[in-house]
Amino acid sequence: MELAEVVPWGRGLNEYKAMFSLSDNDLKKSILGCGDGPASFNAELSKSGHDIVSVDPIYQFNSKEIRSRIDEVYPQIMSQVAKNTEDYVWKNIANFEAMGSTRMAAMQSFLADYAQGKKSGRYINASLPRLPFKNIEFELALCSHYLFLYSEQVNQKQHLLSMKELCRVAAEVRVYPLLSISNNQISPHLTSVISGLKNCDLSVSLVPVEYEFQKGANEMLVVKRV
Ligand SMILES: C[S@@+](CC[C@H](N)C(=O)[O-])C[C@H]1O[C@@H](n2cnc3c(N)ncnc32)[C@H](O)[C@@H]1O
Repeated sequence: MELAEVVPWGRGLNEYKAMFSLSDNDLKKSILGCGDGPASFNAELSKSGHDIVSVDPIYQFNSKEIRSRIDEVYPQIMSQVAKNTEDYVWKNIANFEAMGSTRMAAMQSFLADYAQGKKSGRYINASLPRLPFKNIEFELALCSHYLFLYSEQVNQKQHLLSMKELCRVAAEVRVYPLLSISNNQISPHLTSVISGLKNCDLSVSLVPVEYEFQKGANEMLVVKRV
């Protein structure tokens, strides 16, 4: 992965809670955040003593490199969203300005925590479909805004392998959103991934969530061992 290919964009704990319907009990579990990038989920959760590890290939870069890429990319993403405001639901995030400040605050909070968190093993450079963890090392794995969203870049085989890998390392896996970023439609890989997981004796369900920003992205995929 080249730094120039990275498009850092991160959400905070409140958005993660809403996207994945996380209860207080869920937050007490050992959690893997897969593809957390510059989200502040890990920084905020670990500050309150919770057990969380994040993996992402951008953790091969140092904080200075990630910060400079954020500064470069932030105005570009904001101008894209400004051109397409009707593609979003302004509910959990009230308006365009709030989106910009919320995302930037989350990324700043990540950057402030990153060096220390990396040292203590909370930020690990790894990539799906291979994760450096033992079977069922985590009670819950969350994957926000990577699988299904990038359906054009990540093919069907990689999706199924990635989901199986997440199910290997965690007792329960939740993924959100399930729409492709290219057309805001349900990912073309979803149906086949669901049947592939059911064939592995996993319980699979689509669960409505209260969060919606990308229009129509109002459910998560939940996979558990039976
Ligand atoms: C749009 S960002 C989402 C960040 C965060 N999860 C959030 O929702 O705020 C997508 C993330 O997926 C990461 N990613 C890309 N390829 C990956 C892979 N093979 N395995 C895990 N994460 C990957 C990117 O580096 C990036 O940080």
